[in-house]
Amino acid sequence: MLPAPELANDTSLSDLRSSMLENVKKATTTWSGSVEARTDRAVSRTGRRLFGDRRETLLTGQRMNSIEENYPLLELEEKDYEFSGHPLKITMFKGASLGVSAYVWGPGIVLCRYFESEKIDFTGKKVLELGSGTGIVGILTVLLGGDVTMTDRPYVLKQIEYNILANIPVSSRHRSRIRALAWGSDQNSFPTDFDIILGSDIVYSPSQFPNLIQTLLYFCKDKTVIFLCSDVKYREGSAEFHEELLPVQFHSQLIHTSGSCCIYKVTRKVSDDED
Ligand SMILES: C[S@@+](CC[C@H](N)C(=O)[O-])C[C@H]1O[C@@H](n2cnc3c(N)ncnc32)[C@H](O)[C@@H]1O
Repeated sequence: MLPAPELANDTSLSDLRSSMLENVKKATTTWSGSVEARTDRAVSRTGRRLFGDRRETLLTGQRMNSIEENYPLLELEEKDYEFSGHPLKITMFKGASLGVSAYVWGPGIVLCRYFESEKIDFTGKKVLELGSGTGIVGILTVLLGGDVTMTDRPYVLKQIEYNILANIPVSSRHRSRIRALAWGSDQNSFPTDFDIILGSDIVYSPSQFPNLIQTLLYFCKDKTVIFLCSDVKYREGSAEFHEELLPVQFHSQLIHTSGSCCIYKVTRKVSDDED
């Protein structure tokens, strides 16, 4: 197993954390707390010093008291994983109105295990993840060498950033990016040169299927490979999406199953130039 990332000596962590806190302050509409409070709860619950001594600036004096009084502490839940020798500690921001994004879902685990069993090396690959949630799949992909852009709805990005800071060593962090991407509307501002698109448990809401297809069509060029891992039994419309909708414009090959979770390798059927 590789050693856990050294965070306490991370000189850029303070800057990253400050910018994270600024972002959270700007986007508080769906938040019931502050990252200062959440971070401190994570540290005190687990005894792990996610942010080294720098957290003390936020833990001292009246400022901390007022944060505690003004923002009820969020419930943070941490879970430990290990894939391909990389220990991961994933924090889920429960109680932050993140809905399904505040969980690590089965298809995410299945995709991570698949990367492990197939010894997949993402070195040199430009990867886009859709619906990252906690970021578990995208973070592992960075640790396996990829240059990864993790995306989700705007209010989920702080959770992803938190997990990136906690799990990706500074030396690899330049290969991780976070951007808001709502399917069907935001993709046009993204580049289209991704080698690989990842999506775990993103096929579950039939009303979003047209938007998801539109986004996949935008990103999937001749040589792009999409890996989708979906629960085809317990997610509404998932089997129909993979068996009927997707095959209209994509080649889709079932490459792995684990229980009702299926991994599909997907490529574009026709190479038309839409840009
Ligand atoms: C069930 S969660 C899966 C999270 C993670 N991939 C995993 O496997 O644990 C689905 C994710 O897709 C995101 N999502 C759903 N609909 C979306 C949309 N229309 N645009 C962007 N993201 C969306 C949600 O915000 C959520 O984080």
